[in-house]
Amino acid sequence: MRSAGYRVRYYDAFSRVYDRFVAAHSSDREGRLREVLADRAALPRGARALDLCTGTGAMLPSLARRAGMSGLVVGLDYSRGMLERARTKVAGTPGVALVRADAERLPFREGRFDAVTCSHAFYELKGEGAERALKEVARTLRPGGSFLVMEHEVPQKLLVRLLFYVRLLSMGLRKALAVLGNEDTLFRRHFHEVERIATDTGRSKIILGRGPRNASHDVSSVPGEVVLPGAKVSARGR
Ligand SMILES: C[S@@+](CC[C@H](N)C(=O)[O-])C[C@H]1O[C@@H](n2cnc3c(N)ncnc32)[C@H](O)[C@@H]1O
Repeated sequence: MRSAGYRVRYYDAFSRVYDRFVAAHSSDREGRLREVLADRAALPRGARALDLCTGTGAMLPSLARRAGMSGLVVGLDYSRGMLERARTKVAGTPGVALVRADAERLPFREGRFDAVTCSHAFYELKGEGAERALKEVARTLRPGGSFLVMEHEVPQKLLVRLLFYVRLLSMGLRKALAVLGNEDTLFRRHFHEVERIATDTGRSKIILGRGPRNASHDVSSVPGEVVLPGAKVSARGR
């Protein structure tokens, strides 16, 4: 896996406390914003959706409820630890599959998904990594499909904003600049329409790219692994 290494190990370790950490620090304890994101995905019954960088799979139940029994929701992450937690969360939820792969090299064929979501993880993908991931998302979306990214907004309060900037700088200046409002420019290279949606918490925003500028790409050698036994999608993207 191209991005394997310390980040994967970091997330494998973090997965043990991730849900508790989010529950203790998030201003959105009921997961209302995830419902907003799933609503914006506007999935019809029977839809196919991909949740990129799914982590412990917090988005998956919301997406699966909307896609229904005849739909398919795939949670993708490169951390096995995170996916193990997700597996527990979605046990018994029909139409959900978990795939371990890199967001920058998706093991799915062209046009497979009606919508792709990514919650609080897009900033993880460094400059060129973000570009590669967007290219891959555009490739695997059907014509007219949507990519919805939820990210933290720049905080209003001075101290919190300072901490936010410190965190951004620790990620490297280039990446920091990408997070600081350049998403629209980045998205326009891969989608015909781009919309920025404010959420009522003021702390998170949604960037929506609709109408992918598709690029074809040979996926025959892209690695991926199905984590959930009995899943409907296999690593080579049916
Ligand atoms: C902060 S967590 C967010 C998880 C989840 N989306 C949520 O909202 O709780 C970021 C996740 O992105 C995953 N991730 C980061 N870079 C990735 C990549 N290149 N490919 C696949 N997963 C990646 C990490 O393993 C981690 O689970």
